[in-house]
Amino acid sequence: MKFIDTWLRKEIHDIQAYHVPSSINMIKLDAMESPFLAPRELMPAYIECLSEAALNRYPDANAKEVQQTLRSLMDIPDELDILLGNGSDELIQLMSLACETGDTVLGVEPSFVMYEMIAKFTRVNYHGVLLDENYQINLNTTIDEINRIKPKIIFIAYPNNPTGNSFNREAIRTIIKESDGLVVIDEAYYAYCKDSFLDEVVNYPNLALLRTVSKIGFAGLRLGLLIANKDTVRELDKLRLPYNINTLTQASANFLLKEKSHILENARVIINERERLFKELMKISSIAVYPSEANFLLIKVDDAAALFTSLKESRILVKSFAKHPQLINCIRVTVGKPEENIQFFDHLKSYYG
Ligand SMILES: Cc1ncc(COP(=O)(O)O)c(C=O)c1O
Repeated sequence: MKFIDTWLRKEIHDIQAYHVPSSINMIKLDAMESPFLAPRELMPAYIECLSEAALNRYPDANAKEVQQTLRSLMDIPDELDILLGNGSDELIQLMSLACETGDTVLGVEPSFVMYEMIAKFTRVNYHGVLLDENYQINLNTTIDEINRIKPKIIFIAYPNNPTGNSFNREAIRTIIKESDGLVVIDEAYYAYCKDSFLDEVVNYPNLALLRTVSKIGFAGLRLGLLIANKDTVRELDKLRLPYNINTLTQASANFLLKEKSHILENARVIINERERLFKELMKISSIAVYPSEANFLLIKVDDAAALFTSLKESRILVKSFAKHPQLINCIRVTVGKPEENIQFFDHLKSYYG
């Protein structure tokens, strides 16, 4: 037997690594990033700010200024505390690590795959409850499963990835009230959605919100935040590795994330583009496009694998869910710059003749 087989935990051996396809020279519409860079005119001052960063020292351990910057950017009330992560993925991991080995976390299906993967990494069980045929929460089944399984954490992406819709608000409130576990509302796409649970966090000790700067133009910074009541943040903070937000990320966040009006304007452009692309795609009778409150659209086609290949040959990268049981023949396309969206749409128009 090989060393690795004797040494490694079986669950890790059996996991498929998170796959990131190569995107060199591609129009990248697969990962819900923003297509916009920070404004060029800011670059000289930004470079100067980075040049002053004391890279010989460890970063500010609590990244206090970054917390303030995010508070102003996202209008986070003072009663709530913030925990910063190296992307919100790290915060999902922290919450899973807080569970006992063998506890269960619950997610709806289909949703963000990292909830399940991270559960496995951290020796926690994952239980998925299927969404209904409109990708809404099946409230009765979900409540039954919560009562039966008593999950320690319930992850709800709002809006949901990859379906793009926001779940019924009352259904989520019922879940929060019925659950003894921590309910995590993942608002990674908050900038593209009219609605948020931010002003409800103070009302529920078992509610926490996740956000990230990855979808608003700063995926490269790796910066996510948990917004919750003080007790939750204080305890989870014990699991955070020291200095998890590096000096360059802190300096960049404090410089670039202060450009609130620019960030909001970029989000407005993407929302307009999403609505335009949605209307155009609706005109193609052989495909179905789902309404979205995020910066991507889910599209059901006759043969997602074939369309994916054809798009790839034209250097357009999207995400295909050809064989996923709840997403058979679906592709997910990130809303890009106007010219990128036109190229994507023109491809589909000629593909479906
Ligand atoms: C719902 C949801 N949460 C979290 C993330 C990951 O965010 P981050 O880049 O901050 O780790 C994603 C990324 O696609 C996502 O879709």
